[in-house]
Amino acid sequence: MRRRFVPVVALAGVVLVSCGGPEGGARTPQQTSTRTAGALQVRIAHALAQASPPADPKDAAARDAAAERLVHVRELLEATGERILWGGFEAAKGFDLDTYRLTEFSPVVWTKLYLSTFMFPGEYEVRREGKYTVLQMAAQFRAGLDPGDYPYPFWHTPQKWQAYVGTRALLMVFENDVVVAAFRDAPPGAGAGVAAAKPWDGQWQWTDATGRAQPHVTLYSYLLSSDNPQRTSLDRAYRKLEAAFRGQNCMGCHAPDNVAKASPLLLLNYPNQALAGRHALVEVLRQNKMPPADPETGLDAGITDESARQELLRLAEDFEREADAALAHEQQRR
Ligand code: HEC
Repeated sequence: MRRRFVPVVALAGVVLVSCGGPEGGARTPQQTSTRTAGALQVRIAHALAQASPPADPKDAAARDAAAERLVHVRELLEATGERILWGGFEAAKGFDLDTYRLTEFSPVVWTKLYLSTFMFPGEYEVRREGKYTVLQMAAQFRAGLDPGDYPYPFWHTPQKWQAYVGTRALLMVFENDVVVAAFRDAPPGAGAGVAAAKPWDGQWQWTDATGRAQPHVTLYSYLLSSDNPQRTSLDRAYRKLEAAFRGQNCMGCHAPDNVAKASPLLLLNYPNQALAGRHALVEVLRQNKMPPADPETGLDAGITDESARQELLRLAEDFEREADAALAHEQQRR
């Protein structure tokens, strides 16, 4: 993998550019021929660099401002489908997505919570990898934020925290100009020093000293605009569903440590990150396919108590309806 970025070279189907950061000498999208292969990726690269420029890695206000700008990058959100897959790049696996264990997100949730934890100095490269077009953006992780500013405690293992801190680039993977996946790319050993210094207390969620639910970025109040009519009703629908999930131990597997090694992993234990599952939940509960069959105990898939399943299905349908309306409102604002 190339780790240095070369300014302004265009080869057959490949664009290597430095946009020189948000100020001074940046090539504007108009200067780049729209007929060039990778034109969309070039526009997205410039927009990301402008929306999330380098700042103090401790500066939560800079992050929040970047998050707000990123969800208004039309080129990016219009180039997404129902979901984005997200994980750590492994050179040995390359771009064979099926060989990875990835986590699925609604694109707007991934953009606001995850993408915004990275800052973009401006260098990028667009290249072809098999059937994919890959945008490689030089990236620095905001490693100094408060625990509740992260989508979940990335330091639940030292390896995961090191992988985030050591990130030097993001790889955005496009298939026919639609973003299907994004990877963090950390060179071996990068971020090693800091990883051991951040122990995890075993809590995926907590209440801080001021009584605030954390991580606050996982709440609908962080994701949705203040004028979104579904802000409260969506949260209420999720809370009811979450309580019912607990009764069936759904969170035992659908949490960041991914004990069942699912791919893609659907996170159900954080309000706004559960949005990716709004349709699949209804489907899975209708067909009674979860929890999965247990080969060890010989237990079949599904919920055995039919009235509990009916109740869960009803709550999932409420959640889906509220979620669709909330996301439609956000899309309209854009
Ligand atoms: C023992 C672990 C385990 C438990 C418990 C569990 N799941 Fe799953 N779930 C999985 C795995 C693994 C997958 C990935 C698909 C597969 O392998 O079948 C999955 C997939 C799903 C999907 C599909 C996600 C997608 O990508 O479309 C949904 C929805 C889901 N589970 C909901 C639930 C609900 C609701 C419960 C509780 C009633 C539950 N799961 C309990 C392990 C679990």
